[in-house]
Amino acid sequence: MATPVDELSLPKLDFFLGTNREDRRKVLRTTAKQSWLAQTDIGYTVLTYETIMGVLRDKRWHSATGLGAQLQGITNPEYLNRRRRVSILNAEGDVHVRLRRLVAPAFSPRSADRLRPFMRDVVNELVDPLSAKGSGEIVQELCEPYPIPIICELLGAPKEDWQSFSKWATDVLRIFSENLANELDVIMKAQDEINAYTRNLIEQRRSEPREDLLTDLIAAEEEGDRLTSEELEMMVEAVIIGGTDTTRNQLGLALVLFANNPEQWSILRERPELAPRAVEEVMRYHGAVGGTIRFASEDIEYNGVLFPKGTFMSTSMGTGNFDESVFPQPDLFDITREPVGQPQLSFGAGIHYCLGASLARAELQEAFITLSQRMPNLALNGTVEYKPTGVGIFGPASLPVTFTKGL
Ligand code: HEM
Repeated sequence: MATPVDELSLPKLDFFLGTNREDRRKVLRTTAKQSWLAQTDIGYTVLTYETIMGVLRDKRWHSATGLGAQLQGITNPEYLNRRRRVSILNAEGDVHVRLRRLVAPAFSPRSADRLRPFMRDVVNELVDPLSAKGSGEIVQELCEPYPIPIICELLGAPKEDWQSFSKWATDVLRIFSENLANELDVIMKAQDEINAYTRNLIEQRRSEPREDLLTDLIAAEEEGDRLTSEELEMMVEAVIIGGTDTTRNQLGLALVLFANNPEQWSILRERPELAPRAVEEVMRYHGAVGGTIRFASEDIEYNGVLFPKGTFMSTSMGTGNFDESVFPQPDLFDITREPVGQPQLSFGAGIHYCLGASLARAELQEAFITLSQRMPNLALNGTVEYKPTGVGIFGPASLPVTFTKGL
């Protein structure tokens, strides 16, 4: 017989836990040693590898990522109406299964590999001016711009439109802002512009197919079923939301880790074949997405506990990634770490597992290989400033470094 969750005596945590990411990680990890479950001011959080996997793989827990607006008390009807539009990021059940089945082939490792030479060119172009100086602030000069040309190339948007994409990505990503109410107009304008642009691109690709994601998505078909134009627009927006800020922040966190662990940077330089492992270890050690959110779509009995319908649950992937029962010596940052057969959690798990994981892996691997060659002796050259922690995507805001120039 399961115990109702509100009858348990659980450790209590503030959902936002202040703004310092390191303090937050410490509190979460200490709590995880006492209990797999903790109470937060807006629900509960699971803290161990097994229970995080358990919740993410259980289809009764539905994505709450579309509820950010409600959680912040937003009442603007036009905005809420837009958020109700089906998106792969928060659709559930048959609607999600259908979307995922149609789009998955376009996001295969093979499709991502197609872009590797382009990724190398982008990294090299960004490093050229840095390499001439041997120093720089690499969030602005390298990490922030890196994903935009790649997403554009993926979609088949020409170079002259990169600037517009960069602006739309910045504006539409304000949906993760802690001050959403002030950002609604900017967000909706960016959404309208992306959608209009996408409609135009769809028209072009329908008459003239190419080797790109949009063409693949237009052609995607299963048993006569296809994506509608509105669904294609939604997918483009999802790719911009899911695929830009995540990658740039993950690259930034990686470079902080490498600057603080110079011997690991040297190993990578000498053994570039370790890049895939290095990406997994960086994401285990410091994932740009530290957690995600779910709600109980029905009464759920899990691990001997009854969670009533509507219960809000967060899953602390960043804490599960330090679970000693899965990752021995979790505090050791070691890119030669043998794979343990269980994945790091920073791409999520279950039906919402990151659709762009192959692409993100390829982007990070290519960046690691080129940067370790061209920026040896990477070292911090000042204080690393971080973006506000919030609950969304996290990474450095400023990362001044020096390295050996001229390579
Ligand atoms: C290092 C970079 C990335 C990280 C850390 C990351 C992380 C995640 C996580 C944790 C989820 C699951 C969210 C949840 O369960 O609520 C997710 C989903 C998703 N990601 Fe990524 N992501 C990255 C890169 C990308 C890229 C490059 C793309 C697209 C090109 C992308 C597109 C998506 C989409 C569309 C979903 C929703 C999938 C679904 O709900 O079925 N992501 N990502």
